Amino acid sequence: MWRTTTRFLLPLTAVLALLAVVGHAALTRTTSRWFDADLALRSQLAIESARTSLIAHWDQRDHLVQVLAAITRDERIMGAATCGDDATLVATEAFPQAFTCHAIAREIERAGGEIATWTTTANGASDPVRVTATRFPRGAIILVHDLSYLERREATTRNLLLIAFLVLALVTAGVTMLAARLAWHGWTKQLRRALGGNPTADFRPLVRDVRTLVERLVGEREEGVRAGPWGPERLRAALTHHLQGERVVILANREPYIHERTADGIRVVHPASGLVTALEPVMRACSGVWVAHGSGSADRDMVDARDIVRVPPGEESYEVRRVWLSEQEEDGYYYGFSNEGLWPLCHVAHTRPVFRATDWEHYVRVNQRFADAVCEVVDSADPVVLVQDYHFALAPRMIRERLPKATILTFWHIPWPNAERFGICPWREQLLDGLLGSSIVGFHTQQHCNNFIDSVDAFMESRIDREATAVIQGRHRTLVRPYPISIEWPVHWVETSPPIDACRAGVRAELGLAPDALLGVGIDRLDYTKGIEERLSAVDQLLEHHPEFRGKFTFAQLAAPSRTKIQHYKDLNERIERLADQINRKWSRDDYRPIALLREHHEPATVFRYYRAAELCYVSSLHDGMNLVAKEFVAARDDERGVLVLSQFTGAARELTEALIVNPYDLMQAGNALATALRMPREEQRERMRSMRRLVSEFNVYRWAGRMLVDAASLRSRERLHGRLGTSGGP
Ligand code: G6P
Repeated sequence: MWRTTTRFLLPLTAVLALLAVVGHAALTRTTSRWFDADLALRSQLAIESARTSLIAHWDQRDHLVQVLAAITRDERIMGAATCGDDATLVATEAFPQAFTCHAIAREIERAGGEIATWTTTANGASDPVRVTATRFPRGAIILVHDLSYLERREATTRNLLLIAFLVLALVTAGVTMLAARLAWHGWTKQLRRALGGNPTADFRPLVRDVRTLVERLVGEREEGVRAGPWGPERLRAALTHHLQGERVVILANREPYIHERTADGIRVVHPASGLVTALEPVMRACSGVWVAHGSGSADRDMVDARDIVRVPPGEESYEVRRVWLSEQEEDGYYYGFSNEGLWPLCHVAHTRPVFRATDWEHYVRVNQRFADAVCEVVDSADPVVLVQDYHFALAPRMIRERLPKATILTFWHIPWPNAERFGICPWREQLLDGLLGSSIVGFHTQQHCNNFIDSVDAFMESRIDREATAVIQGRHRTLVRPYPISIEWPVHWVETSPPIDACRAGVRAELGLAPDALLGVGIDRLDYTKGIEERLSAVDQLLEHHPEFRGKFTFAQLAAPSRTKIQHYKDLNERIERLADQINRKWSRDDYRPIALLREHHEPATVFRYYRAAELCYVSSLHDGMNLVAKEFVAARDDERGVLVLSQFTGAARELTEALIVNPYDLMQAGNALATALRMPREEQRERMRSMRRLVSEFNVYRWAGRMLVDAASLRSRERLHGRLGTSGGP
């Protein structure tokens, strides 16, 4: 107890005593200011109340002395006097003899001519007095105030203050000691419980975990400053630093390289998929395994006995583990539940979802097959698994059941609808439960996170921590976070692209256009969410309302056939063909056609040549999680030219605000935006493009992956720590 007193109570009391001294000095200054003001007021009041008598008796000395004596009845006014214009002094008895009218007149002059206040011992007394001299119609009135009461008041204040601080010091010290004792008692009890009730248990493992966690958090901060922009190197370093370089396993339906059998032999195809565009550079940087559907006609020919092929061809830095699906499985799981059910459910594009029980059964079974494949390729009991997209809503729970310690990061690449809309799915609870097997569920935007949390709230038994945006079920916690996806930077396809002029000339020649023709591009899978019909209609509007572009502007739509077994996609294909024909017929002149519809798969090298050749790129999605075409166009334009016209219904519109943002349903607005883009001065194009390029270069896909992995690593450390404490892991 004595030790506690000396180590804690005494320093605290000393600090408070110091505060008392400082406080007292401040208080003295303040009370003295108040006193001065008080004094001036009292003098004025005294003079004003005697004003009539003073004026009336100014020349009658005896009467004047009586009036002055009446003023000194106030116990704090010791003496009073008047000075006439002729410097005659008339004063009460106690008025200090030493004062002369000349001296008083000087003081008044010095103070501005009206009123002077000063402290003096000029009366020869031991105590100082306060004097106020006020100009009056025929001279001046002088009052002498007693200062001793002020000193008495100050002394009383000082003593009270010291006593108050001392009491405060003692009470604060007592309360603090009591609280600290109670907290320490509770904390140690909790630790003992967590460590098996042994009061002499070794705390070292826990301390080690805490230290690791703190070091990691500090490291992260420093690393951010030190490491510079995100790129493959930094991502690799983050993986080594935060996750001990564990290899990453990605689960995604679409594989990054498809081997197709052609008349000329086996060809490697890069699929048209935003997901692949984003994740492939991440895998090249991190290495590991990508588990995917082996969908190519020559895929089986390329794998080893474990169904693994090393990619990228010629570089072989990571593995693709192919999973084979029967036609029925593909129909039910991929075409059926994923693309006729979940895809239209999540996109507001006015296509009704179709939910068939047989499709659902395939979806469940195929999810299990992929989850098993993931568990086969991992090389530890606590691997990092990145589950991708709506094809695998059930896999996170299935993986968690086999690998309870796995860190599972699920990223949903498409929008998440509001709870009411999501609720129409007959298997809504199962889907949510599957996803909640994840450690983190990521979306492109906060809005999609909110929709997901609302859906969980509406349909699941769980606790929602809205502040930390986490869902808690028993001891398991799933964080729900926005991670806006992006592309690699620099894009390797740009580095191998021909110069801009060569692209411009080459593409115009391929399309049969004049060298100075104006060109717009649209690059998409042929999908009803992309708003391709609205886009072509906007071109029609442009030509209708801006005749100067007739015969000069051509829009090249590169449309990769997609999910062609689904009736909606077949219908869309036909509708787009008819619409393009119709617009072309309407505006054709000689060999001029405003729309070039190229419905086939284009490899990235071609796509980038088109981006680089065009005056503008129009992304008109009716609803899109992010849309990486917009970001690719920006990346392609190292000449800082070209205008992006972008639908407001894409995630990208939140980041690329220097694009011309349009409502794709508003055809007139979109047509006018195309005209604005074509007329935009070079300098403005440069400014807008430069700013967007800066953003995409910084917020690239390495940063996207890095942030998720770093978050996963902190979650892991915290879970380990909380595991030891026997509490549920906080975010
Ligand atoms: C979207 C999805 C991806 C998918 C891509 C291409 O971007 O989010 O998961 O890979 O479309 O579609 P596909 O069905 O051909 O893989």
